[in-house]
Amino acid sequence: MATPTEPAATPTGIEQAHDTSKLWTPTRLGDIRVDNRLAMSPMTRRRADANGQPNERMATYYAQRASFGLIVTEGTYPSPEARAYPNQPGILASHAAGWAHVTDAVHQAGGRIAMQLMHAGRLTHPDITGVADVIAPSAIGYEAGSEHAHAPERNPVPKAATKADIDRIIEDHVSAAQRAIAAGLDGIELHGANGYLLQQFLSPATNQRTDAYGGSTAGRARFVIELLEAIAGSVGAGRVGLRLSPGANIQGADENDPHDLTATYTTLGYALRRLDLAYVSIVHPDLPGEFVQHIRHEFNAPLIANTGFSTVTSRNEARHLIDTGAADMIAVGRPAIANPDLPARWKTGADENRPDLTTFYSGDNGYIDYPTLNAHTVG
Ligand SMILES: Cc1cc2nc3c(=O)[nH]c(=O)nc-3n(C[C@H](O)[C@H](O)[C@H](O)COP(=O)(O)O)c2cc1C
Repeated sequence: MATPTEPAATPTGIEQAHDTSKLWTPTRLGDIRVDNRLAMSPMTRRRADANGQPNERMATYYAQRASFGLIVTEGTYPSPEARAYPNQPGILASHAAGWAHVTDAVHQAGGRIAMQLMHAGRLTHPDITGVADVIAPSAIGYEAGSEHAHAPERNPVPKAATKADIDRIIEDHVSAAQRAIAAGLDGIELHGANGYLLQQFLSPATNQRTDAYGGSTAGRARFVIELLEAIAGSVGAGRVGLRLSPGANIQGADENDPHDLTATYTTLGYALRRLDLAYVSIVHPDLPGEFVQHIRHEFNAPLIANTGFSTVTSRNEARHLIDTGAADMIAVGRPAIANPDLPARWKTGADENRPDLTTFYSGDNGYIDYPTLNAHTVG
């Protein structure tokens, strides 16, 4: 990853037992108090029941990872049309009790857990949602890979959302956030990254509207601003975060013009700073760089940072970013899949299990069976 200076070499021996990195200090994300600076990054694992019901295995999986300062759940659909994948969990009324069980398990293990709300926008199919219309800002289909990432069908050309659709989508998210908080979740994260609905509104490639929700950087930012205002107004901004991947050019939500990119995300940050959000979570390859630090300043909120898919988050990178003040917290993805006790391993410099890519999105294995350090020494 691109950092201006090289991180210090991994400490060895006795030093590890006295790791003085700020990684291990508590902080606050709005109303959420966290014990350390490692967040479990939101990761779709597709182990819910077929009807989107969170189940016992999911409770075990998340509780195993309670030593992260904050767990952010996999992207969870707030309404049927928002669903992106088979076996993705939802937060419909029928799912609330299941999430209460997951949340209790995490809390009993001493952890904190926020739910990522995710609307697929154009990146889904009626066979997955059970809803005739696939909705997006504009009627522009995703051609790049043409097939849906998790299903054999081609994504259809979406219907351009009407103002009534936009109002309903916002209401659906507010109701979902209320259900999640009532189920005991410590916070709500809006998935504004990786080319799903929120980024489809932000990107000029996927938003070619000519009404108030498009046409300019301010227009393209409007939906995300109104959505955050509505959710914050309902459950309290101190429990609400937003995840963004500016300029990632992922799943066709391209943002290739650097001036437009800066203007769009500056508008967003400036408008949302007055809410006092719990945090902004940014996925970007150059986290200490001027762009990310500018957006962080505009939001004036704690920064959870992640470098994205191209490099796997490492212990040294996390320590360096926190200890130089480039971020307030680090979102750790793939190493958290393979190491339920990753904070203990990183604190002591212990070896890590390697994640099995073939079980990321399905399978009986590779979910709740990764061994902990204790299991190694005992077994
Ligand atoms: C299996 C898998 C599923 C993911 N699902 C989501 C998701 O639901 N929401 C999201 O915001 N990011 C998702 N991501 C991205 C991760 O949160 C993270 O940004 C990415 O893995 C890079 O971090 P890492 O190098 O620490 O793994 C996913 C990543 C993986 C590997």
